[in-house]
Amino acid sequence: MASPAALTSPEAYADAVATAVRAAAAYYADGDTPLGDDEYDALVRAVEAYEREHPDEALPESPTGKVAGGAVVGDVPHSAPMLSLDNVFSAEELESWAAGLERRLGRPAAAWCVEPKLDGLAVAARYRAGRLTQMLTRGDGLAGEDITHAADAVLGLPAQLVEPLDVELRGEVLLTHEQFEQANAVRTAHGATPFAHPRSGAAGTLRAKDRPYRVELTFFAYDALGLPGLPGVPGLDHADLLARLADLGVNTAATTDAAPRRCATLAEAQQRIDEIAALRASLPFGIDGVVVKADAVADQDEAGSGSRAPRWAVARKLQAQHKVTRLLAVEWNVGRTGIIAPRAVLEPVVIDGVTVTYATLHNPADIERRGLMIGDQVFVYRAGDVIPRVEAPLADQRTGSEEPIVFPEVCPRCGDAIDTSEQRWRCVRGRGCQAVASVIYAAGRDQLDIEGLGGTRAVQLVETGLVADIADLFTLTKEQLLTLDRMGETSADNLLAAIETARSRPLNRVFCGLGIRGTGRTMSRRIAAHFGSMAAIRAANAEALAGVDGIGAEKAAVIVAELADVAPLLDKLAAHGIGTAVTEPTAPAAASSAEAAAEGPLTGESVVVTGAMTGALADLSRNAMNELIERAGGKASSSVSKRTTLLVAGEKAGSKRAKAEELGIRIVTPEEFAVLVADQLDLS
Ligand code: IVH
Repeated sequence: MASPAALTSPEAYADAVATAVRAAAAYYADGDTPLGDDEYDALVRAVEAYEREHPDEALPESPTGKVAGGAVVGDVPHSAPMLSLDNVFSAEELESWAAGLERRLGRPAAAWCVEPKLDGLAVAARYRAGRLTQMLTRGDGLAGEDITHAADAVLGLPAQLVEPLDVELRGEVLLTHEQFEQANAVRTAHGATPFAHPRSGAAGTLRAKDRPYRVELTFFAYDALGLPGLPGVPGLDHADLLARLADLGVNTAATTDAAPRRCATLAEAQQRIDEIAALRASLPFGIDGVVVKADAVADQDEAGSGSRAPRWAVARKLQAQHKVTRLLAVEWNVGRTGIIAPRAVLEPVVIDGVTVTYATLHNPADIERRGLMIGDQVFVYRAGDVIPRVEAPLADQRTGSEEPIVFPEVCPRCGDAIDTSEQRWRCVRGRGCQAVASVIYAAGRDQLDIEGLGGTRAVQLVETGLVADIADLFTLTKEQLLTLDRMGETSADNLLAAIETARSRPLNRVFCGLGIRGTGRTMSRRIAAHFGSMAAIRAANAEALAGVDGIGAEKAAVIVAELADVAPLLDKLAAHGIGTAVTEPTAPAAASSAEAAAEGPLTGESVVVTGAMTGALADLSRNAMNELIERAGGKASSSVSKRTTLLVAGEKAGSKRAKAEELGIRIVTPEEFAVLVADQLDLS
């Protein structure tokens, strides 16, 4: 994780303290905080570093050295302080922590116990004669809040132990992923706002009284002690203690894949940490680290505890899986079945090592329930390989400049009406929406270029059942066309003529018209040139496709899968003689597109076109310009970079021109360029 920015002045230090105190207070009050866990940790470390350098300036309210950042208090004294844990952030830091402990002990630790650091709230549960009598929050570590009222909603914390013991259990209460979903379903059904994330849900639920609905939580024990003046649990080594608790009917992490494990050496402990970290995504609850404890009670006793944390245990923190970031926009995507799904566009944020830019927003009703607005600071979750989710806005962070999310009024793909009767909105055309969109796309200027086949006609053709896919266009008859509304003789003739012309479109355009994911105009040109025929493209496996410039292994696999999907359509097209022209493939003789490109006046040039074209180039679309560049041996690109060697700047050229000037790239007008590529221009 990023190291915290150093605090260089008393003011910056005071600011950092104030921010951390606010965040800790919010976190422990209801689990919501304007800072993600990683940011909070980094901030506290920066504060600590400053205080080490300037011990005289340390502010009394500083969160360092305090349990829960000094945020909360309760009124029921704990039988023994409920401590926090020190953190380490890497294997090296863990090693030096362990070395420090062993120096203090004057011997190697007998063994380590490695267990998940459960991401919930610490509670103490007091039992008398085996009956649960009281449950407390951690509070400030010395006194906590009585939350006994919530005990019967906590699974894993039995009302009665198997033996009539006087004991105080300590552990973590959390919402498992499933409980979190259930909690939010029941809350929204009751008109309450959903919890932002499982921990705030657990915090809110434990403290709430008199709710008209029930939310279940789960307890995991990690420690036990005898109540003052009463015989407690005898001094068991840690792993044995956990096993004893399980025997008493108490839930521990032993019931999970991330079960606590006794490790003979630190290397073994490190291995178990890695295993638990790798399991994180598949665990049914959140963990924010792995706890390493000296297992032997003798080692623990000898090491003792500081005011904030024991010296015999440490948390190896993992990167937070939730972060706070800004909601920039909402996109509405139409799936294959016509479902219109909202997707959040986020200010990129790194969560658990992965940059997240998009997150799912479930459905429109969900957006409304959460009261999200564009510009909001939002909690984003990424649990392993699950698609990141936006959970909730931080409403108190609003500045007033947030804007409402605009819901689509018509299907964003085909423009027809939306069926909003279900939670998930759907285009009234259902799967047919895709057919209309595919036909419109295939008929587009850069694909088959069928004039007169716009949105309205495509809708008519699909709706009347005349056309189900683009291949059907080529069997349309004049009689059929004349059955369409507002279709006269002339229009029908024109449309048929346009379709006829489209029959002979080159391979790259036909391929582009298929709308295969990841293959726009440029990529379609490269693929067509590389393979030379549709048959060769269809026969290509992922490895062969990855031989095309710009196609990586991932994209190659997608293309292969999509090609398999459209196989029936390709058969139909081939039967009509569409896309069957064969050219000399550039593969495998030429390995890269640079070699593959034709020899010409632009050989070796990387060309970008910007602004409006004029003169002989006035009518050329951007795609046609790119085709022209490639015919002339150059490489077309859409953005100016250090690799760009030539910029064709037309009227109203803006930032690309400025950037090219800055980089000293050669700039020509469309007219100058037309002269350069005069030979190729004739061919177009
Ligand atoms: S041991 C004296 N073990 O993490 C022992 N704590 O950041 C102190 N936590 O206050 C705690 N899982 O609320 C321990 N397996 C585990 C834990 C765990 C989660 C929590 C606990 C603690 C906090 C420190």
